[in-house]
Amino acid sequence: MDDLFPPRTHEQMDLDRVWDLGDALADRLDEGGEAVTPSLLSEVARAQGAGLEEIYVAAGLDPDAQWKRAHEVAFVVCTGSCQAWGAVDALRALLEERRVREAAGRPSFDILTTACLDVCLPQPPYVVSHGPLGKAVHPGATGDLLLEAVIARVDGDEGSE
Ligand code: FES
Repeated sequence: MDDLFPPRTHEQMDLDRVWDLGDALADRLDEGGEAVTPSLLSEVARAQGAGLEEIYVAAGLDPDAQWKRAHEVAFVVCTGSCQAWGAVDALRALLEERRVREAAGRPSFDILTTACLDVCLPQPPYVVSHGPLGKAVHPGATGDLLLEAVIARVDGDEGSE
């Protein structure tokens, strides 16, 4: 099976670190009974001295995480094994684009993570986007490709809020 994958291009995050962050997030969720939101993830990242992308990777490990949606359009990033092909870079690009849009009061989108999107081959990393017009699979997701997808989905007909 492994030889069906393209050569790995990126280091994956240290798994112990990801589990520790996942535990910190789970504790926070248990305390408050809250859903996973950008503000909660920012708060836990700050408390743990972690990067925002790290806490998003940790959140993706929990299959029972209840993500709270706030926008018509959402991008779901596989941050499981897809990390080995640049998923965290793609995630970072989405996080930065969302930050810039929200600071400017522009239409935005949700970002969710998961440990696998059940696509995996032939062109990881995979991102799936959802919007009123349906679902799209983004194979070989790079920051640039995803920014084009954000423009198409959020600034097109789907993202009007
Ligand atoms: S590991 Fe990324 S889609 Fe399956």
